[in-house]
Amino acid sequence: MAVTGADTGNRPRVVVTRRIFPDLAQQLRRDYEVLDNQDDANWTTEELLARLSAADALLTDPVRQIDAQVLARCPRLCVISNIAVGFNNIDVAACTRAGIVATNTPDVLTEATADHAWALLLAAARRVVEADRWTRAGRWERFAYDAFLGADVCGATLGILGMGRIGQAIARRAQGFSMRVIYHNRHALPAQAVPGAAPEQARWVERPQLLRDADFLVLLVPYSAATHHLIGTAELAQMKPGSVLINIARGGIVDDAALAQALRAGCPAAAGLDVMENEPHIHPALLALDNVVLTPHIGSATATARRAMVRLAIENLADVLQGRRPRALVNGEVWASRRCAAPAAG
Ligand code: GLV
Repeated sequence: MAVTGADTGNRPRVVVTRRIFPDLAQQLRRDYEVLDNQDDANWTTEELLARLSAADALLTDPVRQIDAQVLARCPRLCVISNIAVGFNNIDVAACTRAGIVATNTPDVLTEATADHAWALLLAAARRVVEADRWTRAGRWERFAYDAFLGADVCGATLGILGMGRIGQAIARRAQGFSMRVIYHNRHALPAQAVPGAAPEQARWVERPQLLRDADFLVLLVPYSAATHHLIGTAELAQMKPGSVLINIARGGIVDDAALAQALRAGCPAAAGLDVMENEPHIHPALLALDNVVLTPHIGSATATARRAMVRLAIENLADVLQGRRPRALVNGEVWASRRCAAPAAG
């Protein structure tokens, strides 16, 4: 396939898989030959490869799968800069074997993502979206004491599965709601690692206890083969009656078909999902339910956070191409043996 849009100079060639902010795209063009996707088309793998096979760098979104077969056809590729904190879309081991550096965008999206987790939590708890739909449908005829009864947030128990940076930011906000925070990680964190939370306010528990005791369960584990369907029928059955499940991490951690069935049966009572299996193709059973709030993978979507992510991704990419160790290196083990140890330009 013929690909147009790049200069013919010898500057490093960069492929961008999704539309990015025009001023940042322009900045990129000043330094590189850029094959970008300002039309935001859904490139097939072959369409991506038509651009990537002669490229030095890739600036990619977290939904685009970059696997060993793709990498094998990109002999010049030095760096894959993911515009996301999660990098399950990239076969990092294959990158390392090929000497390709992988980077991500941690930190800059932490607070925005924690805010969105809370938006979902409150919306699901207090049935905001369902009530909005009902009101707009012209069905509000009188005040009713039993209308849209939701779950109490203040004073409830917040459970966090995967207490990393975003989990800690969510836990910090819980103090304002006088919540008890419990969490499960592979290892308990030192008390001071949960900012502002005294040990009794953020307590490590085993996973079954987390499922059993949380009124609100927020999922923040990275997606991998080990976390695929980590929350399925058996786990949902252990959740408390009246509880609410929030997935702000990745689709596939929850078995969406099992969740739809559990929500239909009323336990958990509600869910808030920013990520789903096979997104953007949502399981139809979820779409049919009123007790689930759905958002289209917008956890970090504030202008500040999303621009900071793109900026950091560009910075990571530039660092690698210029021979500097990037700020957010995913596969540090590749650094000494990376494919492009010398600056790629010239
Ligand atoms: C978004 O999903 C991210 O991982 O940053």
